Amino acid sequence: MILRKSNAGQQLQLQLFALILMHAACHNLISAKTVNPNSGGDLQQQQQQQPLQGLPEPRAYMPDSQNLDFVYHDHEELTRFLRATSARYPNLTALYSIGKSIQGRDLWVMVVSSSPYEHMIGKPDVKYVGNIHGNEPVGREMLLHLIQYFVTSYSSDQYVKWLLDNTRIHILPTMNPDGYAVSKEGTCDGGQGRYNARGFDLNRNFPDYFKQNNKRGQPETDAVKDWISKIQFVLSGSLHGGALVASYPYDNTPNSMFQTYSAAPSLTPDDDVLKHLSLVYARNHAKMSRGVACKSATPAFENGITNGAAWYPLTGGMQDYNYVWYGCMEITLEISCCKFPPAYELKKYWEDNQLSLIKFLAEAHRGVQGFVFDPAGMPIERASIKIKGRDVGFQTTKYGEFWRILLPGYYKAEVFAESFAPREVEFVIVEQHPTLLNVTLQPSKRIEGIGGGGGAMLPLGGVSPGGMYRPIPVPQHYRPQMPPYAAAASSDNGIFSTISNGLNSLYSNIFG
Ligand SMILES: *[C@@H]1O[C@H](CO)[C@@H](O)[C@H](O)[C@H]1NC(C)=O
Ligand SMILES: *[C@@H]1O[C@H](CO)[C@@H](O)[C@H](O)[C@H]1NC(C)=O
Repeated sequence: MILRKSNAGQQLQLQLFALILMHAACHNLISAKTVNPNSGGDLQQQQQQQPLQGLPEPRAYMPDSQNLDFVYHDHEELTRFLRATSARYPNLTALYSIGKSIQGRDLWVMVVSSSPYEHMIGKPDVKYVGNIHGNEPVGREMLLHLIQYFVTSYSSDQYVKWLLDNTRIHILPTMNPDGYAVSKEGTCDGGQGRYNARGFDLNRNFPDYFKQNNKRGQPETDAVKDWISKIQFVLSGSLHGGALVASYPYDNTPNSMFQTYSAAPSLTPDDDVLKHLSLVYARNHAKMSRGVACKSATPAFENGITNGAAWYPLTGGMQDYNYVWYGCMEITLEISCCKFPPAYELKKYWEDNQLSLIKFLAEAHRGVQGFVFDPAGMPIERASIKIKGRDVGFQTTKYGEFWRILLPGYYKAEVFAESFAPREVEFVIVEQHPTLLNVTLQPSKRIEGIGGGGGAMLPLGGVSPGGMYRPIPVPQHYRPQMPPYAAAASSDNGIFSTISNGLNSLYSNIFG
């Protein structure tokens, strides 16, 4: 399992990148600047070596059938394994439940990290979600083995140690335990067990950015929505079966009233990043990047990746919701042609996916990260940040932290917070390590004589004619308060939407 080394394309990228670096050096963007935040300070930027780059590849897993065999685990066995692991590795794991399924099964999340109980300030939280479709349980078992791999490798593997020392990894092995309970091992296709106990497809049950989603919110979906509203996840993978491909947002598209197979791509402003993340998974997988079709009747995916909507559009998917609402880069990982293959194949699936599962998470340490402070050095919560040219924004945590995965290049970020003057900062991203960027915002000034014309955005904040402070309206694209469907013609509802929903579930049964 060797990381593939550079090809011609990457070399060109490197050359381009050297140019960018030279440019940046001329503009004094590379050198470390430290400014005392109390001095009414300014931009702080610093480069830090990312140890992962210099570390040997993660070692292979030594399965231990005493603790976890390559068999399917029902809900009781899964619960027992998670409880036993958290008791055995109290310094590396914490177990919590984000809620219950309709039939009362806990939606367990295991955190694996050297700080399992507490968020590490400045360090990213990431997640994996398995088994959103109950009859696609390979991911569920892979995630149990991933937990076992992490806890048993921490003390002996430098790569795993660095990852767990610098990341909190939240693993939800099954989002749909009720569906799993009625699924049948050896069933490669079909929909039995796909849905929750009320017959809802959970990957069609999230609010949608493009289309109105009239499906009633289910307890499993509500639990996940609540979870991701409380923890700012930087990166996420959702594990599925029934195909072999890494699929990235958007899953839906503004213009697919009648959905057709092999539709047009629906690309996000972070398409470069999402493609890259998908390629990291596919290239570290034993087979995915070969792009071989599962069956003659199913598509072959070039390099083992696809845009979600280009494969088939769907409304209410989880990855679009993560990305648009929370700026979390989530991709959908289809890891087995057969939805529920026989247990004796699980070891092989682990071998195929081990390196992908680990390397994908390490991508949370690429790009820009930092804090937004006020002049007194206090963190600013819910400051909105937008990378120029990428209209899907994100917000700081209560500690003022932010993260954004970006590929090497030169960027500008716009930073806004209520009652502060907006600010634009420039920075450079390199391949070798994340860019650390602290931003200090100054309180917005009162300016006499500038009319406060109806909430339009003013460079220094809006000021009413009386000189009273008026908060800067947060631009809509920072948070999807007004999704496009609300403004779209009503033709999207009613009969057309019923037809397209019908097609949607038809396609999802065949392909997804
Ligand atoms: C940014 O702020 C954090 C939190 O206060 C601090 O630990 C870090 O050293 C700062 N980074 C720079 C480059 O000043
Ligand atoms: C957990 O960490 C504490 C403090 O570092 C240490 O004293 C203790 O032995 C560790 N426990 C286990 C089970 O490794």
